Amino acid sequence: MHHLARKLSEEMLKRNEVLVVTHIDADGIAAGSIACGSLTQAGIDHDILFVKSLDDDATGRILERSPEFVWFTDIGAGSYDLISEIPGIITDHHVPSESFAGGDSGRLLPPIRGKGPNMLNPHMYGLDGSLDLSGAGVTYILAKEMNSENVRLSGLAIVGAVGDMQDQNHRRLIGSNRKILSDAEEHGSVRIDTDIRYFGRETRPVPRLLKYSTDPLLPGLNGNHSACVTFLEEIGIPVKAGDDWRCWSDLSSSEKQRLVSALVTLLLESGLGREHIERVVGECYTLVQEKEKSVLRDAKEFATLLNSCGRYDKAEIGMEICLGNREESLDEALNLLRTHRGYLVESLKVAADTGIIELDHLQYFHGGTRIKDTVIGITAGILMSSPEIDKSRPLFAFAHSDEGVKVSARATKTLVSRGLDLSVVMREAAETMGGAGGGHNVAAGATIPYNREEEFLELAQNIIMSQMRPE
Ligand code: C5P
Ligand code: C5P
Ligand code: ZN
Repeated sequence: MHHLARKLSEEMLKRNEVLVVTHIDADGIAAGSIACGSLTQAGIDHDILFVKSLDDDATGRILERSPEFVWFTDIGAGSYDLISEIPGIITDHHVPSESFAGGDSGRLLPPIRGKGPNMLNPHMYGLDGSLDLSGAGVTYILAKEMNSENVRLSGLAIVGAVGDMQDQNHRRLIGSNRKILSDAEEHGSVRIDTDIRYFGRETRPVPRLLKYSTDPLLPGLNGNHSACVTFLEEIGIPVKAGDDWRCWSDLSSSEKQRLVSALVTLLLESGLGREHIERVVGECYTLVQEKEKSVLRDAKEFATLLNSCGRYDKAEIGMEICLGNREESLDEALNLLRTHRGYLVESLKVAADTGIIELDHLQYFHGGTRIKDTVIGITAGILMSSPEIDKSRPLFAFAHSDEGVKVSARATKTLVSRGLDLSVVMREAAETMGGAGGGHNVAAGATIPYNREEEFLELAQNIIMSQMRPE
């Protein structure tokens, strides 16, 4: 991989002008920022275009600019046919489309030079793009080959990986992400802490951190603010310092230990097994150069802030923040974060109102026009990781978009280990009806023509049935 990265970096460094095209989610914004940061470092003129997906419309917008060279980050692998005439380089971690696969061996080969964009992608090396390396990570590998000074961007690669939930299954980053973590630690941008895994270590008042616990859910505390306050007071942890709520990062280490022990006791008393209890604590990544109590200090919070920008047409604000331009951008992003939180609560209510419909091989709900196409995937992801949901079949979610009906699908690692590959399900089912789809085995998406949901579900069920081995 490094050998190819070296060759591609030589190609990149020959350019006078590069158009970066990236995805609007946290990983995509982090990836695009790493690309722009390394192009600035190399003195290469560049511009950036954020896209929801690479479809005909997005390709048209790229071609309109007659770019000399395009750097696709966190996007491109799954839509290779559409961009195969565009000169450029792809650094992506999505499952590549068949048009990129070379030879009969099943091993993916880079295309012949000069014919289309070349690609650096973990799937070409037997790695899993949903776990081992993110779009920001693979972009970082190329950036580091361009100039070793670009290790200063390694923290963004960690934010990208965490934004794509690559630390979720194992409660730590694994695979090639660990090499990037070493770079980031060595460079002094990231510290690895073994800490509470609940969201909001730096900025959420502790009662809120407990109230919104999902993985594992805290019985009796989840959803109940006053119960969280009482719980903390009973174990001698003051919830306020003067008028201000205390956050997890304000607690002393003995208070943190006391709280974790109390949570473990609560979970044991509720009859939860070890596999749930051990999820309370795991690796967390602190961006030590960021101010204390800033949303940018914890990698998960940073990633959520980027999602709050990108999902609401403001990806460029997220990029400004990644590149260190904070003044106005940060205030605007914090406003967007408040909007995003409220929007997610509403989206989850919509899903609860409509109800989840169970079919033989999948379950689904339809957000209609009430959930944005850019947020339907996050909603499905949150639901799939919630304890109430049936984990024996993947969850599909629909929402209307300007381009057609957006579908997001989420699975669990157990379903994947039984053969399920949602990237194939989404691609094949969507392509059969003139749509497009792809992604990762555990999380994938598609856009299909209007009013074809039933037919899509039928096709998807058939593919799922053919993939899955019995339990
Ligand atoms: O487009 P991109 O690759 O950046 O997005 C990856 C998606 O996969 C994210 O929505 C992330 O939440 C999801 N994912 C998941 N479970 C995992 C790994 C990734 O739901 N274990
Ligand atoms: O949009 P959503 O979050 O559901 O996407 C899940 C994963 O599928 C992401 O990695 C996304 O980039 C990918 N995807 C894709 N092609 C699409 C839609 C989504 O590769 N048409
Ligand atoms: Zn990604």
